Amino acid sequence: MRDSVIAANWKMNLGIDEARELAIQISASEKKVANREIILFPSFLQITAVHEAIKDSEIGLGAQDVHFEDKGAFTGEVAAFQLVEAGCSHVLIGHSERRHYFREDYETVNKKMLTALRSGLKVMLCVGESLEERENCITEMVVVDQVVSAFEQVPEKELENIYVAYEPIWAIGTGKTATTEDAAHVHEIIRKTLKRSYSEEAAEAMRILYGGSVKPDNIKSLLANEQIDGALVGGASLKHSSFDQLINA
Ligand code: PGA
Repeated sequence: MRDSVIAANWKMNLGIDEARELAIQISASEKKVANREIILFPSFLQITAVHEAIKDSEIGLGAQDVHFEDKGAFTGEVAAFQLVEAGCSHVLIGHSERRHYFREDYETVNKKMLTALRSGLKVMLCVGESLEERENCITEMVVVDQVVSAFEQVPEKELENIYVAYEPIWAIGTGKTATTEDAAHVHEIIRKTLKRSYSEEAAEAMRILYGGSVKPDNIKSLLANEQIDGALVGGASLKHSSFDQLINA
């Protein structure tokens, strides 16, 4: 049995005080939940405040992005070592909003993955197809390509430091969720893809989360499926009342 994970992607939404307050509330609820990992992904500027708020808890702290070079002249970017220094244990890589709005391609995602792992960060790799790709029945091909390219040169010993979040783009922030069966099917494909390059044991141990309009009213059905090891949550993670229901589901 894999422990489940509920991760909050706050995107570019909260102010620093709001983020701190929410983190304090989540940290108070977290103590009551067993066998469930919680990870918060605030924006860069909130990392210090959130770190302070959750430092006595088991909650993981992650950044929403990282640059692929170790350091140097990259104005406006943030390096992996700086995230570690600020208290981050995790980082999101390849979110569809980054792939789409910031044109991150497969190679960039792979470089970020390797840099983050080398720096000791745990990576939550996001993959998922667009509506057009789903309608053209190429979901599996797209997701397999994303997974294979992102894991290039990643050694087996790093698998325990990686989570995959399957987030169909058409379900993100739209209120439309993939059915549990559809999500579970893609999760199975992701795990099979990993088994082609890694041992059965390492691929079986990896957590594969679902993301895309996860809410208190659909979380139970998603988590009840053995293929779905948790959720990456945007909108419903911005209020303590709804996020609390998710972490307790
Ligand atoms: P959503 O976002 O829960 O608001 O759909 C999920 C995500 O983008 O990670």
